[in-house]
Amino acid sequence: MNRFLLAIFSLSLSFFTSFAQSVIPLPQKMMTCEGSVKVRKLKNVRYVTNAGMDSEAYRLDISKKGVTITSATDKGKYYAEQTLKQLAEDCPDGSIACMHIEDRPQYAYRGFMLDVSRHFFSVDELKKLIDVMARYKMNVFHWHLTDDHGWRAEIKKWPKLTTVGSVRQNSWDTDFHLDSLKSTETQKYYTGTTAYTGRQYGPYYYTQEEMKEIVRYCAERHIDVLPEVDMPGHFKAAMAAYPEFSCTPEAEHKVWTERWGVNDDVLNVGNQAAIDFAKDILDELCNIFPYPYIHIGGDECPTSAWEKNVMCQEKCQRLGLKHVRALQSDFIKEISDHVQKKGKRIICWNESVSAEGADLDLIRQTGATIFCWVGSKAAAKKTIGMGLNVVLSEIHAADGSYYINRRPSAEKGEPTGAGAGDDTVEKTYIYNPLPNGLDASQLKQVNGVQATFWTEWVSSNEYLEYLTLPKLICIAEAGWTAPSQKSWEDFRNRLMKQTKWLDENKYIYSRHWMKGYEPRK
Ligand code: ACM
Repeated sequence: MNRFLLAIFSLSLSFFTSFAQSVIPLPQKMMTCEGSVKVRKLKNVRYVTNAGMDSEAYRLDISKKGVTITSATDKGKYYAEQTLKQLAEDCPDGSIACMHIEDRPQYAYRGFMLDVSRHFFSVDELKKLIDVMARYKMNVFHWHLTDDHGWRAEIKKWPKLTTVGSVRQNSWDTDFHLDSLKSTETQKYYTGTTAYTGRQYGPYYYTQEEMKEIVRYCAERHIDVLPEVDMPGHFKAAMAAYPEFSCTPEAEHKVWTERWGVNDDVLNVGNQAAIDFAKDILDELCNIFPYPYIHIGGDECPTSAWEKNVMCQEKCQRLGLKHVRALQSDFIKEISDHVQKKGKRIICWNESVSAEGADLDLIRQTGATIFCWVGSKAAAKKTIGMGLNVVLSEIHAADGSYYINRRPSAEKGEPTGAGAGDDTVEKTYIYNPLPNGLDASQLKQVNGVQATFWTEWVSSNEYLEYLTLPKLICIAEAGWTAPSQKSWEDFRNRLMKQTKWLDENKYIYSRHWMKGYEPRK
């Protein structure tokens, strides 16, 4: 290449880099053109509909004449506006280069799961995180509404789920606070202590009107809400409310307080009245959440109570089951048939296909989407081999984790949390969630990726934001941008610029990944 061409080439490359630096997720194709436009002119937008485009795709043309957004749908238009907004925020001299962007997501499912059972967060706190999802083009809020430690969804037919199930007799307190309030350092130093307090926790739950309000808020931002009722395991709060549906109706049942983990007080799937109770719960939720999928959990369900229960044993015999675990597969199939009548498909955690003794034929018949979390790559390969689709959210592998509640650093002053403190922002960004060896058609069975947040150790909204951010943004980019375009150094530069928006909107975020960060002494 002669010197002249080299100069032109590096000039256009520097233009590209300079503009690409501001936008997250990085658009798939972005070309600068000759000339520049004043930022105030970007408000002059012409919208064009092109029904031939993919539903989430958009084109964005910025020229001296103004801005043109082309898309098939309002969703594509909304994503173009998010890109435009970020470009306009990053113009120190008040003008930006003319450019042409062609963009579409890598994956159809780009999710964020939040556990509101172990700790409860207000509607306003949820909305603040949903705003982050929207800005970074994530499209599913997976709301983990129930678990052993608290039932958080109002169900009108079964009121004790919330009057009893949303209260526990002890609370965990994350005392998370700013250690230094020097104006230049406000989010730099966090310290926290965590401990049980002996105080009652709750009643905390969302009314049906509040759940509808979250659905509305998300819909305005082109985000679907996926409700989860974790069953038949992680069901102790429901068993405290209605012990008659447990395997030991005469025993005392309490919302779990002693510790986090897996409890054997599960739904009695040998009792048809208990299964009908589960169906009633899902019926009400199906009417509140328009998303055509419903998550029915299925993870970490011990079989010890079923092994000792006469109704479960009789059902095993009646159905000729080879393994008590197949009771769970049968339950999943019955629930799937039920919600299908309401136009819904089920989603389950990966134990539904990977637990020993699961009846894979029954699960295959449901057409469930499987969320792969434990040994996620092996579970995904198995599921894909069964002909089902997957979403990837690894709990913790040597190379990384999409469980974003895990501590990002082990620095002095970090509150108690999950993990050893080595799940850094960089590691989250670099992690490749895909199993090796999938061919092109198998890759189509990967619906997408999800950031997952469990709140056992996280009772304060400040700590929730601190752990969520900026890892959520790393996973937003994994969901949208082609893997071949991803680079940690480039992402880090863009993320540095995004801190302006995070600061202006008063988000709390971890900082160990930032250039020039000095670890706490
Ligand atoms: C899970 O983390 N138990 C799905």
